[in-house]
Order: sequence, then C-alpha cells, then structure tokens
Amino acid sequence: MTISKAVLITGCSTGIGRATALRLARAGHPVYASARKLEAIQDLGAAGCTLLALDVCDEASIRAAVARVEAERGAVGVLVNNAGYGSEGPIEEVPMSEVRRQFETNVFGLVQLTKLVLPGMRAQRWGKVVNLSSMGGRLTLPGGGFYHATKYAVEAISDALRFEVQGFGIDVVVIEPGPIKTEFGDTAIARVAALGGPDSPYREFLRVLQRQIRDAYEGSMGRLAADPDAVAKAIEAAITARRPKTRYVITAAAHVMMGLRRWLGDRAWDAVMRTQFPQPKDA
Ligand SMILES: NC(=O)c1ccc[n+]([C@@H]2O[C@H](COP(=O)([O-])OP(=O)(O)OC[C@H]3O[C@@H](n4cnc5c(N)ncnc54)[C@H](OP(=O)(O)O)[C@@H]3O)[C@@H](O)[C@H]2O)c1
Repeated sequence: MTISKAVLITGCSTGIGRATALRLARAGHPVYASARKLEAIQDLGAAGCTLLALDVCDEASIRAAVARVEAERGAVGVLVNNAGYGSEGPIEEVPMSEVRRQFETNVFGLVQLTKLVLPGMRAQRWGKVVNLSSMGGRLTLPGGGFYHATKYAVEAISDALRFEVQGFGIDVVVIEPGPIKTEFGDTAIARVAALGGPDSPYREFLRVLQRQIRDAYEGSMGRLAADPDAVAKAIEAAITARRPKTRYVITAAAHVMMGLRRWLGDRAWDAVMRTQFPQPKDA
C-alpha cells in the first residue's frame, strides 16, 4: 500500500495557512490548499497547490473536501487545522451567536475534520494532525475570554488525541505562536469595534483593548511579531520529523509570556494585567 502524504490545510486565503501552503508546495509536498472563497487562493494553484473550497463551519463542505482528497490520494496524510479567528470582547457583551460562531470555527470545525481524516490515516498506519493553538492556549488576556477558551479546548483535545492515536502511527502536534503579522489583528479589532454601546460599562476597556491588539502587531511591540513563514517553517519541521515535538512555541514573545504565566500566581498575573488594561468598574 502506498502511503498518502497529501497535506490538507484549512484557511489558506491569508496569513499562516497561505504561508504554509506556499512553503510546503515549494518543498514538493502534495498540498490541498483550502479556503471559504476559491477566488482568494487562485495564486496558490499557480504555486502547485490543488485548490479546495472548505468552510470549517459547513459540514457538507468539510465532508466533500475530505472525500475529494481520499478519492484522489487514498487518504489525507497530513491535516493542518489552521482556520480560526479571534473573537475579542468582554464576556458580558459578546452576543451568544458570536460565542457559538467562535467555537464552531476554532473548535468544532477542527474536531469534525479530524474525525473524518482519522480512518484513512489509521488504514495506512501513517498520519499527522497539526493543530493551530496559540500562546493564548496557555494563558488568558482580559477581553479574550472566548478566543482563549477555544484555544484551551484545542490544547485539551490535542493532548487526549495524541495518546489515543499514537499506536495507529498518527502524530498529533500543537503549534503555539505568539503574535504573527497576519489579518488576525484586524479581524479581532473589528470584533471589538462592533461592541460597546453608549451605555456600556466597558467603553474605556474596549478602547484600550483595541489599542492593545493594534500594538501587538504594529507599534513598538509589533517588532516582536513574526512573519507567518516562521510558523510555516515550524509546521514543515513537525510534519517531516520522524519524531515530532508535541508542541512548537513560536516567537520569543510567546516563550516569555508563557514562562511569566507559569511563574506568576493568579493574583500576580492579574496585577500585571492591571498595568496594561483599565479594570472595568463603576464610575
Ligand atoms: N496571527 C497571530 O498572531 C496568531 C497567533 C496565535 C495563533 N494564531 C492562529 O493561527 C491561525 C491562523 O490565523 P492567522 O494569523 O493566519 O489569521 P488570518 O490571516 O486572519 O487567517 C485566518 C484564516 O482562517 C480562515 N477562516 C476563518 N473562518 C473560516 C471558516 N469558517 N472556514 C474556513 N476558513 C476560515 C480565514 O479565511 P477568510 O479569508 O475566508 O476569512 C483565513 O484564511 C488561527 O487559528 C489563529 O488562531 C494566530
């Protein structure tokens, strides 16, 4: 039986997904690059990728994408669960419809795709599942509760899955980037900008939250942000290693922040956060 090493990547229209598709295609991997809108990834076709329409919130499109790769290659050999976005805002103010959309995109889509590719990987006794978590899967910043919750979920699911499928020849890898210069910051700021009516007790907090997100990618802090190819490089290393690491932490900023969170207790962490965000309270 020939082993399929076909790589299926979600969310290739921009950022990390796009950089990963390009890097892997250039290195000669058979890449299925997917996006919600095919017109957004036409140039990846010219770079050697096979293009697929795939919305991780749409079960029919998930099933069709996996069926197409399996029909052409026998199995999805490598799944890169990359599609995702940051839904930012105070817990009280983010509408439930948005909370559900955040989990559908960042968690349930990843789970469903993973479930569908596993039988093919098991049959060929070879597979790699690469899940995009974040340093935000190991620490929580104010205003990011739901985003962090989805990444903590990705961490837990990956830890359980790693044990469950290792004996079938399948590796599960978690990618934990710090700030990466992509569309991510703009999408998160747009979510925050949609919140906070004139009577909101969170108006000042929301204003600073927008500024903090912008500063993480631009401004002086933005110098610590990496290009998406830094993540693509780690993904390439993970899927080509005979024995990949469990977790790949990307950027020095992520190492420092995660180290600080491990080292500080909850109260000390909150005190540090109060130096960065105004704590919402009665006027
Ligand atoms: N950038 C960072 O600082 C950072 C840090 C840590 C972790 N991450 C993680 O890295 C991953 C990629 O983010 P990025 O930084 O590359 O951001 P990005 O440039 O905004 O890219 C996100 C990608 O996800 C896609 N997407 C969103 N909803 C989707 C859906 N329902 N179905 C299919 N695709 C969907 C977007 O497609 P559309 O163009 O159709 O919206 C886009 O291609 C995310 O999981 C994110 O949480 C990013």
